[in-house]
Amino acid sequence: MLDDAGVYRLTDDIAIIQTIDFFTPIVDDPYTFGQIAVANALSDVYAMGGKPITAMNIVCFPIDSLDISVLQKILKGGVAKLSEAGVPLVGGHSIDDPELKYGLSVTGTVHPRKLVANSGAEPGDKIILTKPLGTGIINTALKAGVAPQETVDKVTRYMAALNDRASELMQEAGVHACTDITGFGLIGHSIQLARNSRVGINYNISAIPIFHEADEFAGRGLSPGGLRRNREFYSASATISDEVSSSLQDVLFDPQTSGGLLIFISPDKAELLLGKLHGAGIEDAAIIGEVVAKPEGMITVVK
Ligand code: CO
Ligand code: CO
Repeated sequence: MLDDAGVYRLTDDIAIIQTIDFFTPIVDDPYTFGQIAVANALSDVYAMGGKPITAMNIVCFPIDSLDISVLQKILKGGVAKLSEAGVPLVGGHSIDDPELKYGLSVTGTVHPRKLVANSGAEPGDKIILTKPLGTGIINTALKAGVAPQETVDKVTRYMAALNDRASELMQEAGVHACTDITGFGLIGHSIQLARNSRVGINYNISAIPIFHEADEFAGRGLSPGGLRRNREFYSASATISDEVSSSLQDVLFDPQTSGGLLIFISPDKAELLLGKLHGAGIEDAAIIGEVVAKPEGMITVVK
């Protein structure tokens, strides 16, 4: 039962959280790619209720075939996003590599008793998702050259958005569990959390925030390879109503880049936290379902 990041208790009051994430460019603009890579790398620390304290760059760059100014722009975008998060860059490592990759290793801290794991969800808990789904499908459309600039700009803003405020607000509220939605999609990450917590999860498709463009592109057959792998791997543990369109089913398995937090909170506190998230400008946050006792480790999606 791997969690979002590694945790090591240093003292009774301090545990460190360590995580590393890097990938190949998902958008054309290098500065924006740098920003997204940072938001993505910090996210696992936020998902665990921690505060990132330092970061280090990881760079793979084709020095013979790409102008160095591209790398400079990526790093500039990264530093700008780190400074927004209040996290100093303390070092890094770069190598010559035929394929460009960028990411970071991040260290955070949390009080050991305030650590939020991807286990511990309880029957009756409400489930809040803080960002819309569909970035993988839209990035595939971007690569295929069929996504309008306006759609790319919108989705880019979401991918570059930090999960810092959502994390702080969930800590203030007190929650049972949390994870962030990344490569395994909503269904994959939900299954992991349900298994670890020995509970089941029910979602209502109409409550889930989804980029409508992702639904449309999926309907036109655009889907990333990761989506098909997620479906193969996870569909045996998911029961999705036939009334949910096949394009929306795709979105549920879509791998996300720098996705939102999936927060599990007792029902009496859920509306209050949701209101605070909206008040902090996290407008798409929504209660998308609830935890049930059985069937353990299974996700059910109804219309
Ligand atoms: Co994660
Ligand atoms: Co990660």
